[in-house]
Amino acid sequence: MATPVNDFVKAYAQSGTVRFHMPGHKGKSFHGMECYDITEINGADYLYDAQGIIGASEAQTAKAFGTARTLYGTEGSSQCIKTMLGIIKMCSSSDRVTVLAPRNVHKAFIDACILLDLDVKWLYPQKPTASICCADISPQQFEQALGEGGIDCCYVTSPDYLGNMADIKAISQICRKAGIPLIVDNAHGAYTAFLKESCHPIALGADMCCDSAHKTLPCYTGAAYLHISKSAPKEYGEIAKNVMSMFGSTSPSYLLLQSLDLCSERLASGKFAGELEDAVVRVSECKRKLESMGWVLCGQEKLKITLDAANCGYDGNDLADMLREKKIEPEYSDAGYVVFMASAWTQQSELDALMQALESIPVKTAVKQELPAITAAERKMPIRQAALQRYHTVSVDEALGKVCAMTVTACQPSVPVVVSGEVISDEVIKILKRYSIFSVNVL
Ligand SMILES: Cc1ncc(COP(=O)(O)O)c(C=O)c1O
Repeated sequence: MATPVNDFVKAYAQSGTVRFHMPGHKGKSFHGMECYDITEINGADYLYDAQGIIGASEAQTAKAFGTARTLYGTEGSSQCIKTMLGIIKMCSSSDRVTVLAPRNVHKAFIDACILLDLDVKWLYPQKPTASICCADISPQQFEQALGEGGIDCCYVTSPDYLGNMADIKAISQICRKAGIPLIVDNAHGAYTAFLKESCHPIALGADMCCDSAHKTLPCYTGAAYLHISKSAPKEYGEIAKNVMSMFGSTSPSYLLLQSLDLCSERLASGKFAGELEDAVVRVSECKRKLESMGWVLCGQEKLKITLDAANCGYDGNDLADMLREKKIEPEYSDAGYVVFMASAWTQQSELDALMQALESIPVKTAVKQELPAITAAERKMPIRQAALQRYHTVSVDEALGKVCAMTVTACQPSVPVVVSGEVISDEVIKILKRYSIFSVNVL
């Protein structure tokens, strides 16, 4: 087990070397971490040509995740998603690349479609859902869509923001049979590789996936992994760094790289799996107690606690405000749900505080919700063409029948309600209002 990046930076910080290099703080303490915030100086390796200490740390992490290759990213899963789709585009023999994806993608997927000029065939939920975060797509829907032809890649977001998990194993088998690569946005599920029974996308058969290390592991915000499976085409790994560099700054943060490096040692040592298992037990007991109080929970993800607020008689945003008054800050809320994210470092006392706060709030009878259906949209032009035009802004009530210019997402969870090039329908307007979005950019 090794921490080559940390060892290098610590030794450098203690060496007394005069810093005639970036960054401008020169290692002097303003915030407190400056002495460890270096740039790509001699010996510090290059993130996008990692043959030294960064490469060694990445190799250790790849081993821990059981991948052919794991790349560190310092600009989140957002950068890794663009990179994965860039790899697919560069390795595809099709003139235009079409990706099959359930509609609950993160904004980064749309940005990748704009930048790489990709087409998307969307899969829509079979019944109305209370949230744009949920996909509720069966493996059979993938099988049917692949059977219709014209697909170059399948893309799945799992876990979603509410903690629902897709059947990646079944979907990957369908993709393999059809000879189509499967990539997974696993931003919320880095830790799933270290559960007693791994449910990490790479273990379940995906060709590539991204993990936001910062969301569930002890890493700084922005730290991420791009994993490439041992069964994926070799060329993915050969071009991955160059593709990733197109979507990143030439000044990656060494603070983030150090946190990925320290995390790597913890994952590789096997220590994390034990810490995680303890947390899973604590969180599942907390979920059990909340259910016994009458709270309705949803989602299968082990470390997420998602309250189905509407089914407990509350608007999720109001419930989140009530909890803030009790000094509990959730990860996310909308009209229907409140989401709490735990990790291996969430203590029993913190779960107790959440349970105590919720015990003091009465569970009421379910709020009747009119759920707008997320239906197939009429497309007027490719995503890129619509997104890169001069637009004007109108109120949502004036938008009916107009073509969406810039994709509209609720700012959290950054899932699109209407995508560039689509015609804005009545149903879309209802969903926009549900997410308190009152103006849109149209052509
Ligand atoms: C499902 C999903 N994918 C991707 C991302 C982007 O991740 P990052 O913030 O690490 O860029 C997020 C961010 O919240 C997300 O929820």
